[in-house]
Amino acid sequence: MIFLNLLKQQTLNKTQSHNFSMKTMMNVQFLPKNIHEAKVDSIVIPCFEDEKTNQYISLLGSDFVDEYQRLRKSKEFSAKKNKIHKISCMGKINANYLFLVGLGKTKELHNETLRRAVATAHKAVKRSKSSDYLSLLNQVDLPDTAFTVAEAAYLSDYSFDSYKTKKKDAETGKSKSEIKTLFLWNTDEKNPSKSIKQLARAKIIAASTNYCRNLVNTPPNELYPEVLAKEARKLKSPNTKVTVFDEKALKRMGCNAILAVGNGSARKPRLIIVDYNPKGAKKSLAVVGKGITFDSGGLNIKPGAYMESMKCDMSGAACAISVVKAAKDLGIKHRVIAVVPAAENMPGALSYRPDDVIKTYSGKTIEIGNTDAEGRVVLSDALAFTEKNIKPDQIIDLATLTVACVVALGYFTTGMMTSDETMATNLHNAGELSGDRVWRLPLWEDYKDHMKSDIADVKNISKGRDSGTITAAIFLQHFVKSTPWVHLDIAGTAFLKESQFYKPKGGTGAGVRLIVEYLSSM
Ligand code: BES
Ligand code: MN
Ligand code: ZN
Repeated sequence: MIFLNLLKQQTLNKTQSHNFSMKTMMNVQFLPKNIHEAKVDSIVIPCFEDEKTNQYISLLGSDFVDEYQRLRKSKEFSAKKNKIHKISCMGKINANYLFLVGLGKTKELHNETLRRAVATAHKAVKRSKSSDYLSLLNQVDLPDTAFTVAEAAYLSDYSFDSYKTKKKDAETGKSKSEIKTLFLWNTDEKNPSKSIKQLARAKIIAASTNYCRNLVNTPPNELYPEVLAKEARKLKSPNTKVTVFDEKALKRMGCNAILAVGNGSARKPRLIIVDYNPKGAKKSLAVVGKGITFDSGGLNIKPGAYMESMKCDMSGAACAISVVKAAKDLGIKHRVIAVVPAAENMPGALSYRPDDVIKTYSGKTIEIGNTDAEGRVVLSDALAFTEKNIKPDQIIDLATLTVACVVALGYFTTGMMTSDETMATNLHNAGELSGDRVWRLPLWEDYKDHMKSDIADVKNISKGRDSGTITAAIFLQHFVKSTPWVHLDIAGTAFLKESQFYKPKGGTGAGVRLIVEYLSSM
C-alpha cells in the first residue's frame, strides 16, 4: 500500500503542472458611503506633515480630532513619509482600527510617495488581522489616484508561498492573514466610469507583474527552458502565435550561441517567440528577454555566495512574457513580440569553454573569454533573429546582465543604454510615471575597443573590469544592425534581498510596468 502511494506520487511529480498566475486576487472596489457608516475592519487616512487639521478625521468626530492633535503635538505621529500609526476605535465608529499614514509635505507629494504609503498601510492593516479596509489614500491631489492606489495595493499584497507546506507570513513568521477587499472612497467622484476603468487596468498590470514575480521565484529545478516554453504556449490565442524552437531546430537555424551556452546542461535550450498581433496594429515592439533559468557560471563556475539566487537570471524572459500577457489583457493596439532565448548555464563534459569561438546566427563570430558572460552570448542570437525575421519597429532587450550595473545604480534603478534619443526619452518618462525607473548610461564609440578579439569578430569579455555594464551593451550592439534598440540591464532591480515598499524580497517584476506604460503612450 505504501509502495503504491509512492508510485502514485512519482507519476504525479512527473506530470506536475504549474500555475504561475495569481491565486484569486484581492478585491478592489469603490465604497460610495459616508466614512463613519462604512462597515469595514480598518480605515486608512492620508496625513501630511504640514497640515494643521485633517479633513477626514474631522468627519469622524471630536474624540478622533483630539487624539489626532495629541499625536501630532507629542510627535508620536509625525506624518513624515511612510510613518504609520494605529488607533483603536473602541466602538466609536464601525471600524476596529484607524491607520494614519504619513505622506510628508503637501507640496512634495509624488506618485511614488503615494505607492509607498499604500504599501506601508497595506502591510500594517494586514498585520492587524483585518480582512477588509477602506482607504482614503485615493483622495490625495494627484492624477489617476485610483489606478495608483489599486496597483500598489495589489503589488503589496503579493507573496510567494507555493512551496510552503504550512502557510506562514514570510516577514513576520506568523500564520497568514488575508485581505479580501480594499474599498476606495469615492465621494466627490467626478468621473466614475473612468475610475472603474482605472481599477481594471491596475488589476491587469499588477497581475502581470505578480505573474512575472512568480516565474522568477520558481526554483530552477522546476523551471527550465522547456517549462518556460510550455508556459509561453499558454498565451496562444487567435491573435497570439507562439513558436518554440527546440535544440534540433536551433541547430538547423544556426543559433549556435544559444546552443553553446545551453550545452553543459541536461535541460536543453529553447528559443521562444510569443507574437501578439492584434487586428489593425500599426507599430510593433519586440521585447527580448535573457532567459538563463540558472546561471552557475558554467566552466568559469561562480563561488557559492554568487551562485545563490541565480534562478533570477531569467528575469528578462519573465518580463518579456509578462508584458505580452499584459498587452493582450489590456487590448493594447500595437504588435508586441516576446523573444526569449532560454538556456541553463552549467558546467559539464559538453559545456562551452573559454577560448571557444562560436559562429552565431548573424554570421558574426564570438570568442569566449569567460563562460559566465553567457547572457550576452544567448542575446546575440536572439537579437539578430529578431531583427532579421520579425523586423519590428523597435527592440527593447532586458537582461540581468552585469554585476557592474548593481555597483553603478544599486537596487532601485534599471540601467538603460541606447543610441536612439526618442526611445531613451520615452522610456525615461515611462519610468517616472510607472515608478519602474531607468537611468541612462552612455553607449559611446569610446568603449568599442574594449570588446575586440584577436581571432574573432568580438569577444564576450572586455580587457579590464572597468565600465562592465557599458561594454556588455557594446557587445550586444554588434548584433543589432539598424532597428531602434534599447538595452535594459535589470541585474540590480529584478531580484531583491530586502523588500522595498511594494516590492517584495525575491522577484520584483522589474520592467513590466515600465514597458506597459511605454506601450500605452507609443
Ligand atoms: N547573471 C550574471 C549577472 C548577475 C549577477 C545578475 C548578480 C544579477 C545578480 C551574469 O551572467 C554574469 O555572470 N555576469 C558577469 C560577467 C563577467 C564575467 C564579464 C559579471 O557581471 O560579473
Ligand atoms: Mn553569468
Ligand atoms: Zn547570467
